[in-house]
Amino acid sequence: MSIYQATASAPVNIAVIKYWGKRDTKLILPTNSSLSVTLDQDHLRSTTTSRADASFERDQLWLNGKEDEIKPGGRLATCIAEMKRLRKETVEDKNPEEPKISDYKVHIASYNNFPTAAGLASSASGFAALVASLAHLYSLPASPSVLSAIARQGSGSACRSLFGGFVAWDMGTQPNGSDSLARQVAPQSHWPEMHALICVVSDAKKGTSSTSGMQRTVETSALLQHRIAHVVPERMESISNAILQKDFDTFARITMKDSNQFHAVALDTEPPIFYMNDVSRAIIALVVEYNRLSVEKGQGYKAAYTYDAGPNAVIYALEENVKEVVQLVVSYFPQKPEEFKDVLGLFGERGSLDLNA
Ligand code: ADP
Ligand code: DP6
Ligand code: CO
Repeated sequence: MSIYQATASAPVNIAVIKYWGKRDTKLILPTNSSLSVTLDQDHLRSTTTSRADASFERDQLWLNGKEDEIKPGGRLATCIAEMKRLRKETVEDKNPEEPKISDYKVHIASYNNFPTAAGLASSASGFAALVASLAHLYSLPASPSVLSAIARQGSGSACRSLFGGFVAWDMGTQPNGSDSLARQVAPQSHWPEMHALICVVSDAKKGTSSTSGMQRTVETSALLQHRIAHVVPERMESISNAILQKDFDTFARITMKDSNQFHAVALDTEPPIFYMNDVSRAIIALVVEYNRLSVEKGQGYKAAYTYDAGPNAVIYALEENVKEVVQLVVSYFPQKPEEFKDVLGLFGERGSLDLNA
């Protein structure tokens, strides 16, 4: 008897132009395009194993060892159904010899090796890994773009984690979502000097999930309407060019402005949403001052902070400045383990650095 089981893992991506708002909550179509960097090291990943078996009575999923309900018609159910449909249409219907495992129920176990639902994009790596593991299980010939469109229906940000390097998610205009797709702007090898420093300020689960937070913003924020119509389109263009030209100054300025505007939009929501805390803001002040001194010396920007829907900082910096940035951050936050947790890692060619060692 055959065992049908497969494991896949996917990395997180951290947006520099933030996705925040849906125009279609079922298909997960965004109100603006976004752009992210996929982290290529092993520190922030989801690893997912799926198994199909005739004896299983229902689809079930365990996240970090605890069962997570698969609600009928919900995101998990949609992704699983779409993957089963692909298996049937592209493999089983075409080749009658292939076992009809799309009829079997699946059991899925996923682990995140970093804090879940804490603003470090666990939904992005989570749904990307889920779709990748089912693609593997079902031996699908599907392209990253097809899988990405399915992952998008699990969590919007997940569509960008199917690609490496610098990735755009074009919002698209079609009501059926056919052109709301992620694509690679440049591979990581195009700008290998780029690093991301993850500063875990808190690993606690956020108070307002991204899904409910952004829905409330769409319903109540006038600032969001300004952002999506008059700010993001130009920023998408400028930051894509900055990446292609390896222009760190422009990349850094846009990244920080967009993080600020995203958090302003959260604050403009009714009732307001606060994702950053005092430590987050202190890190912003530190990076701003560090850049000010560097620009004054004629050396340009050296670091760019960005915050997702949580208090944890991601700092982008070029290889030549990484050591200085790490020293700076650690010198200001040395004795606060309760606020500044240990998962300070460096992403890029040289792997990780444990600052608490
Ligand atoms: P985050 O900032 O971590 O992305 P979100 O509020 O966007 O937080 O999403 C968190 C939710 O994503 C979790 O509550 C869970 O439902 C889902 N999720 C996280 N990791 C996984 C995973 N590995 N597999 C499946 N779903 C996951
Ligand atoms: C601030 O993709 O987590 O991280 O589509 O509802 O699952 P859902 O939301 P999610 O939102 C991500 C918001 C963000 C910005 C970004 O990653 O672009
Ligand atoms: Co998320």
